[in-house]
Amino acid sequence: MNHPTDPHKMTQASTPVGTHAGYMPGFGNDFETEALPGALPQGMNSPQRCNYGLYGEQLSGTAFTANPPERTWCYRIRPSVKHSHRYEKIDLPYWKSAPCVDPDVISLGQYRWDAVPHSDQGLTWLTGMRTMTTAGDVNTQVGMASHIYLVTESMVDAYFFSADSELLVVPQEGRLRFASELGIIDLEPKEIAIIPRGLVYRVEVLEGPARGFVCENYGQKFEMPGRGPIGANCMANPRDFKAPVAAFEDREVPSTVTVKWCGQFHTTKIDQSPLDVVAWHGNYAPYKYDLRTYCPVGAILFDHPDPSIFTVLTAPSGQPGTANIDFVLFRERWMVAEDTFRPPWYHKNIMSELMGNIYGQYDAKPQGFVPGGMSLHNMMLPHGPDREAFEKASNANLGPDKLDNTMSFMFETRFPQHLTPFAANEAPLQDDYIDCWTSLEKKFDGTPGKK
Ligand SMILES: [Fe+2]
Repeated sequence: MNHPTDPHKMTQASTPVGTHAGYMPGFGNDFETEALPGALPQGMNSPQRCNYGLYGEQLSGTAFTANPPERTWCYRIRPSVKHSHRYEKIDLPYWKSAPCVDPDVISLGQYRWDAVPHSDQGLTWLTGMRTMTTAGDVNTQVGMASHIYLVTESMVDAYFFSADSELLVVPQEGRLRFASELGIIDLEPKEIAIIPRGLVYRVEVLEGPARGFVCENYGQKFEMPGRGPIGANCMANPRDFKAPVAAFEDREVPSTVTVKWCGQFHTTKIDQSPLDVVAWHGNYAPYKYDLRTYCPVGAILFDHPDPSIFTVLTAPSGQPGTANIDFVLFRERWMVAEDTFRPPWYHKNIMSELMGNIYGQYDAKPQGFVPGGMSLHNMMLPHGPDREAFEKASNANLGPDKLDNTMSFMFETRFPQHLTPFAANEAPLQDDYIDCWTSLEKKFDGTPGKK
């Protein structure tokens, strides 16, 4: 007999994998998911025969002995060796890798670009990638590249993976679908996605044209930053990262797989879709994150903390506290600090700062830093608020003030960033950017107490 107080009477969740259909919550979890019932072996990885005649295969994102190791076990229609034949070199001239140092390009400077406009040309995820800067060396797996993508066409029977890098994707316009070996991620502005090294996928346009930013991380994977004294909550929270549930297709059609490997691109022809993983378990997976769930913390009495408090993800470099890449988010927030110059202060920094505007207005640059636009403040080059921002912040009545309609980000790296010829010559570089500081005037005349 069931009674309301019967301890055995429980209401069970109707969805087995969290509250967002198609995704599983948690950062770096050891997930398990199957698109067909019973496809995932239980209690072991490598049974003598897998259910449905599937092949078992491990995808390793770290060395076996890394701590913790990151790997995923896939149960697939064909092993990946069937999705990889002889390779033919191809040219994707706008997708550059470090080192890419052009003797005719000066990277020493403060630079800003308008949004790169769309063209009439049909562009895919591969042909529409435009490298802006590179840092480090892809061959030694240190550093990064920053790109703008302009995508108008879906990849059809065409697939890609990067052996060089994981990709952090920051959409600014349009909606994309990443159909990957481990499942489907739909992505729109105000979200980001991480596509791990080695994962095969194709990119479809759900709503175009699509434009956005990519940070290509050659080094150690992105992880959540330590929160230190902030404690267990705020900033990015682990449950807001979403990995896709398993999804596969059984398509026997001539297809191509393009591989980025040591900065070069090669294509191989196969006879079927490689997106044939029916079930998987592990902690090496793509994921997305909704930037609107980022909970910023900041000054609540006076002064201005370092922008590291806005770090969403960090990719370590081996030197503690000095990241290969920090992904930093400047979003809507309240400003309440008393007797304080509230915008970012003037500074010069060993880290190289590449910023992008997703939407709205950035407080240190009310004009000129536009949605879709980028700026670069390279290693040890001074920068800070322009004259308008300085005067406004110096004379404002300091009540509680909400910075609204603003979302910008920074790819910050310990390595100097080199401009590509595209960034220097073809992208809409603002030649007068450096003039934004020209009208800052000398106020000092030796009079004490002058403000
Ligand atoms: Fe800066």
